[in-house]
Amino acid sequence: MQQPIGSSPRFLDILRMAAHVAPTALRPLLTGETGTGKEVLARYIHAHSPRAEKPFVAVNCGAIPETLFEAAFFGHKKGAFTSASADSMGLILSADKGTLFLDEIGELPLPCQAKLLRVLQPVRGRLTSDVTPVGDTHPRAVDVRIIAATNVDLWSEVKAKRFRSDLFWRLRDIEIKIPALRERREDIVALAESLLEDYDLTLTFRAKAKLRRHRWPGNIRELQQVIRVAAEFRKFAGAKEIDMEDLLFGEFEDLGVPDLEPVSPRSIPCKTKMGGFVWVETPGTRLESTGGDQGVFVEWLDGFVAVELLDGNGARRGSAYWPLADVVASEDGTKVAIPSDVEAWFAQRTTALQAG
Ligand SMILES: Nc1ncnc2c1ncn2[C@@H]1O[C@H](COP(=O)(O)OP(=O)(O)OP(=O)(O)O)[C@@H](O)[C@H]1O
Ligand SMILES: [Mg+2]
Repeated sequence: MQQPIGSSPRFLDILRMAAHVAPTALRPLLTGETGTGKEVLARYIHAHSPRAEKPFVAVNCGAIPETLFEAAFFGHKKGAFTSASADSMGLILSADKGTLFLDEIGELPLPCQAKLLRVLQPVRGRLTSDVTPVGDTHPRAVDVRIIAATNVDLWSEVKAKRFRSDLFWRLRDIEIKIPALRERREDIVALAESLLEDYDLTLTFRAKAKLRRHRWPGNIRELQQVIRVAAEFRKFAGAKEIDMEDLLFGEFEDLGVPDLEPVSPRSIPCKTKMGGFVWVETPGTRLESTGGDQGVFVEWLDGFVAVELLDGNGARRGSAYWPLADVVASEDGTKVAIPSDVEAWFAQRTTALQAG
């Protein structure tokens, strides 16, 4: 099994919860935006369960036509219908003693939900009840652990009568919400670097900063695409590094400050005017220069401070990186002075990432 990457507190919490649920008979419902790693987590739970040596069967519930649901899930006998040229076990029986991963469960049509519900009743120490293949008369005893996942708000679907509430409660003994990548920004660089393992390429600090500040609407899937494109082009060019300009977000270019969520506090040692130094703690803090320039402190990177520059109305006008040596803090660390010739500095050192 692929070991999930991530050491942010939020992600470690998720892994801990998954490991806690894994050995039990509970049915976790995994929720999270597209590309956050729901299937990765389902496999992690399976691998940490007593069923690890048995099959893990994944099914995309949105991809099975309603008319084929019973044959696909319960199996069928040869000749049960025109195209049934051989016996088929079906998904549930093929996951016997193992785990059945019901991906995109929110897309399962209502009539199929009723049929699925029937087999989810525990029977005599087994997690599921008997299954009868289409065209057969003998029910088969089966014992399958179910893990479901969805990127829609299933409870809203229940309220809208598009998802059966009885099935909802059967599938959701416990909900594990996987955070979006922008909610665990500390993991972005590690994930990107793991994707670069097969290439002889490293990320510059500016590239890391850009990766960490993107919104990642497509989460890890989007990160994989961005890194692959950058790596292929740079490899082709014989380069050793990936820089900011190589990271192409296309129509997803969007670095708006309002969505900026603070990374875990990491202190920055800053000089003060009096010659001492203080630790400036909180990313996301509004910064103000003596000349009235405003910015938001984003993070400390390899001796640089990443700052979002704001105009007088608080709108974002670009990003800047100040060498730590240029940063002067107030004695109490609540204000960080940015260089007074900020415009010149800005022109020289920043990449204008002008939003619309
Ligand atoms: N923690 C992680 N460490 C490394 N790779 C990961 C991690 N989580 C996800 N991935 C990778 O990201 C991609 C998306 O993961 P996965 O398919 O599990 O997401 P998903 O939530 O099921 O997405 P979708 O909603 O699009 O089906 C996969 O290639 C997976 O290998
Ligand atoms: Mg998936």
